[in-house]
Amino acid sequence: MVISSQPVGLAPGAPDGASQGFEPGVDLTSPNRNLAPLTACVDGQGELQVGGCRLSDLARSYGTPLYVLDEATLRATCRAYRQALANHYPGPSLALYASKANSSLAITALVASEGLGLDAVSAGELLTALQGGMPPERIVLHGNNKSREELALAAEHGVTVVLDNWSDIELLSELAPGWNQPVRLMLRFTPGIECHTHEYIRTGHLDSKFGFDPDQLEGVLRHLAGCSWGRLTGLHAHIGSQIFELQPHRDLAGVMADALQLAIGLGHPVRDLNVGGGLGIRYVAGDDPPSIDTWVAAVASAVAEACLERQLELPRLLCEPGRSLVATAGVTVYTVGSRKDIPGIRTYLSVDGGMSDNPRPITYQSLYTAVLADRPLAEATETVTVAGKHCESGDVLLKDVQLPPATSGDLIAVFATGAYNASMGSNYNRIPRPAAVLVHDGVADLVQRREQPEDLLRYDVLPSRLVPVP
Ligand SMILES: Cc1ncc(COP(=O)(O)O)c(C=O)c1O
Repeated sequence: MVISSQPVGLAPGAPDGASQGFEPGVDLTSPNRNLAPLTACVDGQGELQVGGCRLSDLARSYGTPLYVLDEATLRATCRAYRQALANHYPGPSLALYASKANSSLAITALVASEGLGLDAVSAGELLTALQGGMPPERIVLHGNNKSREELALAAEHGVTVVLDNWSDIELLSELAPGWNQPVRLMLRFTPGIECHTHEYIRTGHLDSKFGFDPDQLEGVLRHLAGCSWGRLTGLHAHIGSQIFELQPHRDLAGVMADALQLAIGLGHPVRDLNVGGGLGIRYVAGDDPPSIDTWVAAVASAVAEACLERQLELPRLLCEPGRSLVATAGVTVYTVGSRKDIPGIRTYLSVDGGMSDNPRPITYQSLYTAVLADRPLAEATETVTVAGKHCESGDVLLKDVQLPPATSGDLIAVFATGAYNASMGSNYNRIPRPAAVLVHDGVADLVQRREQPEDLLRYDVLPSRLVPVP
């Protein structure tokens, strides 16, 4: 399908310095390096392709908005984590995909095939993981308010439960008489580490709904030492998301090693140290996150040093990347509908999706980068605001960005939408969810069917007394 290809840019998962097999060519959008999937290129007709598929063809076949996920990029980021852990950590390790970033059977199957584990936070994510073929012993269940059913489901399948609070402990001890072997446990605590990211996605500081307070740690560990229904095999902390700094993660290693020392001293067979996720990605040209390799190197050396200082045997190092695994693999394609020019003020291009398929801009004021799918190299001569179709003034996907002149029917491709878009989506305004395709080598596999308006009525119940009388 590719006629002549010119690379659009490397993804952040690319091991440092790797060319990812592209012939050196004109770097069409050098400010966009690391923003586009690895396989993104411009074909002989000047159109944008991902995974060997022309986005305009995909739009015609599957409609828009359309989530396009590049298999090569996703596999490359999985491999980058595995490789970096093997290169930089002298002990055993495992990367777990934080499936909240984008949960589906296809993504689960793909990350499982790359040898990663997975973290789930609900029965829905857990079922997706199990049915997607993730081995249960590679799954952990998180959550600050797990239900009895969620805990039972995890325990029944041999999934590790991450204890977040006393309620988890009480519920598990009530459920335990039904089990014939102890459930594997990990203990989450708030490490008290500040980092610079959006307030809503910061979780490591003390004022957080997640995890045990550090002051409670010893008491919880002593309590668990007397619980025959569970076996504490790991400790967990997560400091936040979309983080570009390395120092908070280095600091975390020391805090976690202290906790490990305490747990081992109290007789727990703890062998897993789970440092969470959090590595940021590039959404706009100005973003400059560390590479996966750099992040893993910093975390791995800090954990190894902290353990050495305390004369602790090296634990198995776990991390839980979400965004940095899937975000850059994703591109969303929209069709432009109406255009509104307000002279001297702003030009709005309205597209056929918006905050229901990408709630990040309205939630976190997140920035994105976009091009026109059928002429990504055309000169960007206009400043426009790409608005969604929802009945909400704040439903803006990209504010005041430079694009070539665009009108109704044009296709806009927004980069780096593979994480926290589909998974945080909604049906606001009763707008159906987009379809998703996985692209590879010129082939597109449908991995999520497009929702239809009728689907949205499936769970509505109209009481008979309210049925309109003709
Ligand atoms: C417990 C936990 N682990 C992992 C992640 C994944 O973080 P990220 O997507 O930033 O890598 C999150 C997300 O905030 C989280 O809450």
